[in-house]
Amino acid sequence: MSGALLHVQNLVAGYGTADILQGVTLEIWPGEMVATVGRNGVGKSTLMKTIIGLLSTRRGSISLKGESITHLRADQRAALGIGYIPQGREIFPELSVEENLMMGETINCAKQSFRYDLVYEYFPILRERRRQVAGTFSGGQQQMLAIGRALVGRPTLLLLDEPSLGIQPSIIQEIGQALLRLNREEELTILLVEQNMRLIEHVAVRAYAMDKGRIVANLTLEMLKDRETLADYLAV
Ligand SMILES: Nc1ncnc2c1ncn2[C@@H]1O[C@H](COP(=O)(O)OP(=O)(O)O)[C@@H](O)[C@H]1O
Ligand SMILES: [Mg+2]
Repeated sequence: MSGALLHVQNLVAGYGTADILQGVTLEIWPGEMVATVGRNGVGKSTLMKTIIGLLSTRRGSISLKGESITHLRADQRAALGIGYIPQGREIFPELSVEENLMMGETINCAKQSFRYDLVYEYFPILRERRRQVAGTFSGGQQQMLAIGRALVGRPTLLLLDEPSLGIQPSIIQEIGQALLRLNREEELTILLVEQNMRLIEHVAVRAYAMDKGRIVANLTLEMLKDRETLADYLAV
């Protein structure tokens, strides 16, 4: 038996008749923060959607803490402790910040206690502006809200798809800092898709590089700090 928190084996998934993931294998250990990198269209978001269960597994398997979740629905996977933040965040722009956070309760319906205190501790701006309509928030604030919404259910594993997209650099660093603290102080394991080199270097302990639906390299921290190596795997 493997001690991995998440174990994905030979995963095949896609849309319509096309397989996008061509047999992805990866392992995430408890307490790690791991990045997935790769050019646009290689299947990073498809991988995240398949791990949370929004797309079904065609072949291969996914297990969480040694138990297969391959055939569970997305809400069942969430209830087992997987939080998911989609690319583009998908907050509800017409609802208040507080109402958006409450949607995290619905998503993680099996949990007993919800952690608003935790969310507000890591992102104080969400407390200050809890009555404000979320659509008036900047991209960075909306990303904090999307992360907060996932945290409400107290996940053990967070799947985070391109948090830096469309966000100004200073806020990207602030979000990176919050992710590092969550990882260290709350023992939150994080798998994030990211193309922003500074953010990757700042937070990740290693990274999987993807190309054409496959993992083509497992990059160590030293390799991540070498910009040329990393640039080879990122968007051109
Ligand atoms: N809903 C969808 N329906 C059909 N094809 C899709 C859909 N979403 C993504 N794809 C295709 O799957 C491939 C991988 O996309 P995606 O996983 O979003 O890549 P990445 O996140 O690495 O940029 C692309 O060729 C994309 O066009
Ligand atoms: Mg994507």
